[in-house]
Amino acid sequence: MRLAVVGGGSTYTPELIDGFARLREALPLDELVLIDPAADRLELVGGLARRIFARQGHPGRISWTDDLDAGVDGADAVLLQLRVGGQAARNQDETWPLECGCVGQETTGAGGLAKALRTVPVVLDIAERVRRRSPGAWIVDFTNPVGIVTRALLMHGHKAVGLCNVAIGFQRKFAALLGVPPQDVELDHVGLNHLTWERAVRLNGEDVLPALLAEHGDAVADDLRMPRSLLDRLGVVPSYYLRYYYQHDAVVREFRGKPSRAAEVAALEERLLGMYGDPALDEKPELLDKRGGAYYSEAAVALTAALLGGTGERQIVNTVNHGALPFLPDDAVIEVPAVVGADGPEVLPVRPLEPLHAGLIAHVTAYEQLALEAALKGGRDRVFGALLAHPLIGQSDYADRLTDQLIAHNREHLSWA
Ligand code: G6P
Ligand code: MN
Repeated sequence: MRLAVVGGGSTYTPELIDGFARLREALPLDELVLIDPAADRLELVGGLARRIFARQGHPGRISWTDDLDAGVDGADAVLLQLRVGGQAARNQDETWPLECGCVGQETTGAGGLAKALRTVPVVLDIAERVRRRSPGAWIVDFTNPVGIVTRALLMHGHKAVGLCNVAIGFQRKFAALLGVPPQDVELDHVGLNHLTWERAVRLNGEDVLPALLAEHGDAVADDLRMPRSLLDRLGVVPSYYLRYYYQHDAVVREFRGKPSRAAEVAALEERLLGMYGDPALDEKPELLDKRGGAYYSEAAVALTAALLGGTGERQIVNTVNHGALPFLPDDAVIEVPAVVGADGPEVLPVRPLEPLHAGLIAHVTAYEQLALEAALKGGRDRVFGALLAHPLIGQSDYADRLTDQLIAHNREHLSWA
C-alpha cells in the first residue's frame, strides 16, 4: 500500500507517523511519500519519520519530494494537510477581523473565509493532478476549512472524504472519564465541520451522557472553556468551536489581549523543528501535544484503512448530505457518523435536530455555499455576500469593511484580486 501526504513537511507529521507505526496492522503501509514545497522542512521531518519507523520496527519505506506529480504517482490514498501561506497567513486571519469586533479564527468567521479562498483553488489543482497520476486514489482531506474544501472536492467529482479530530477527541476524553476503552464509546455527533454537538454518548447501547455530565460536567466545561451552567442547559456537548458563537464577544475581548494562536504555533514550530533535526530523536516529542492535532493519526489510520480495506467501520466523517439532514441542500457537506467501506462513507440515519442546532447549521451551510462560490469564481461581491451570510457577521457595514481587509491581506493568494 502506497500513501502520499501533501503538506508532509508539517510539524504535525510525526504525529501521523507515530500512528502509522503503532497501528501498522490496521494499515499495512509499504511506502509513504511526504510531499512539500519546503525542502528544508521535509529533510527534518522526513529524517525523524524514518527514525520513528526504524525504532518501532516498521518495514515501510519513507521518501520525500517537492514534486507533487511524482509523489502522488501510484498512490492508493493521498492525505491533504497543507496550509496555504503558512502560519503567517493564519496570523492575518486571526488578527484583522478583531479590528471590526469580529472573532479572528482560522476556520470560523471572516478568517475562515480568507483561508477557504486561499485554499480551495490549490486543493482542486492538487486533486486534479492526483486524478491524472493515480486514478482511483482516495483523497482524505484534513486541510481546513474541511467542510468547504471537501464540498469543493466532491463537487468536482473527486473521491474525497473530509476528516477532523474533534469527534475522536471527545470519544477519547469521554472514555477516559468513564474509565472504559475508547472503542466502547459511540458518539451521536452531528453538524458541520467545527460546528458540532455530541447529543448522546453510548456505552453498550445506553446513553450515558446525562450521567457523564452530572458527574464530570466541570471537567468537560473546563476543557471547552465554557460555563458548566451552559452545558447543563443545553444537555448536549458542543465542540469548542461553538465558543466562537455562544460567547462571541467575550472571545473577541480575550483574543484582543493576547498573541494570536498562529504566533504561538510559529514559536512552537521553531522549537519542534529544532528537535526534529536531532539525529538521536526517534519518537514523537511530547511538545507536539501542545498543538491541536491530538489523535489525528488514529482518525486518519482508521479512515484510510476503512476506505482501502473496506472495513465497514462506523466513523465520523465529512461527507455529502444527500438528505440525511433534510433541511439542507443535498450537496451540502456534513459531519456525521457513517459506515465507511471501499465505496466511501454511507451516512447513518440522523435523529431529527432541535431548532437550536438546525438553525445554526442551516445558516452556516448557506455561508459555506457562498464561500465556495467566492473561492471558485472570485470577485468582491461574492466575498461580501459570503460575509453577509455568516451568522457571526451579518451586517452590511461589517461585511464591507471585512471584505476590504480580506482582499488587502490576501492579494498575493487570490488570482482575481
Ligand atoms: C484541531 C482542529 C484542526 C485544527 C487544529 C489547530 O485539531 O480539529 O482542524 O487545524 O486544531 O491546531 P493548532 O495547533 O494549529 O492550533
Ligand atoms: Mn478540525
